[in-house]
Amino acid sequence: MDCDRRHSLSAADAQDVIALAHKAERTDGVFPLNEQAVLALSQQENEDQYHLIIRRSGNLTAYAWWKDASAQIVVDPAYRRQGLGSILLDCVTQIDPDTELWSFGDCDAARGFCAKHRYEQVRALLILEAHAPFPIKAASTQFTITTFRDDDLDDLVALHSKAFSHHPEQASWTKDDFRRRFDSDWFDPHGLFIAWHSQTMVGFLWTKQLNDTGEIYILGVDPAREGAGLGRQLLEHSLKYFQQRGINSVRLWVDQAETRAQILYQSSGFSLVRKDLRYRYVDKIEELG
Ligand SMILES: CC(C)(COP(=O)(O)OP(=O)(O)OC[C@H]1O[C@@H](n2cnc3c(N)ncnc32)[C@H](O)[C@@H]1OP(=O)(O)O)[C@@H](O)C(=O)NCCC(=O)NCCS
Repeated sequence: MDCDRRHSLSAADAQDVIALAHKAERTDGVFPLNEQAVLALSQQENEDQYHLIIRRSGNLTAYAWWKDASAQIVVDPAYRRQGLGSILLDCVTQIDPDTELWSFGDCDAARGFCAKHRYEQVRALLILEAHAPFPIKAASTQFTITTFRDDDLDDLVALHSKAFSHHPEQASWTKDDFRRRFDSDWFDPHGLFIAWHSQTMVGFLWTKQLNDTGEIYILGVDPAREGAGLGRQLLEHSLKYFQQRGINSVRLWVDQAETRAQILYQSSGFSLVRKDLRYRYVDKIEELG
């Protein structure tokens, strides 16, 4: 059995993928696709990405999304341990033998699957959460904070690239990547904070609100302004914003390697609730030394 490979999905297939992901979430306790993958389900034909699908008796039973040598794989819980995950892994490594895998929530099945195929953990994203009352100190007022206006987009894209130049997924975000997110149901320009120093954009903090949970979606500071208290000022500003809206729980994702950011978050009441892991084929790890 092989998988069906496409550069875009029909609306019906996209719905089937979401239904499959929800089924997996009910079993594993974690949604198996990240935001980038979910946005890609409704994207037009795009030759830079692949949707890989396996159907059995007409039902979508396994799915993988591939882009930039990275894949997210999910198999219907009722069809696991029948080799479908391995078939999808074969398909993604045919696209690029150096493909790496995401495992959201560090589940046992993903651990066993990666061990069997000789993939080892190379990166971890930590999910941290804070609960009200948030420990808001006397916030610095050194920088002026406004909320996003359409005219800010060019500066925001430029600052985002500068702040995330080292980041594998975010470094290349374009205006369209921002606009796609502006089109999402959760987007609220009042929750996208921009920090200024004498008319120059120097930082931003983008929040999300999903039901009763807040999210610190992206915090970016101009590398030239690091260490000036801007990250803390933006973070406290957003926690106050959530508190005023009656949000009692706020979460965020941070790379395990970003120790400075973790210190900031931990000192603002955030603690670890989950880990997302990225795996690489062992021989590739040895080759990269
Ligand atoms: C991880 C996942 C994709 C595996 O799919 P699958 O179709 O069940 O995998 P396969 O049948 O191809 O399994 C191949 C081997 O992986 C290992 N494996 C798979 N699931 C395992 C489990 N729950 N515990 C231990 N080992 C496991 C086994 O060695 C298995 O071979 P075996 O069944 O002959 O013992 C599936 O469990 C899933 O969708 N999990 C949730 C999403 C996720 O974590 N994705 C990240 C993948 S890195």
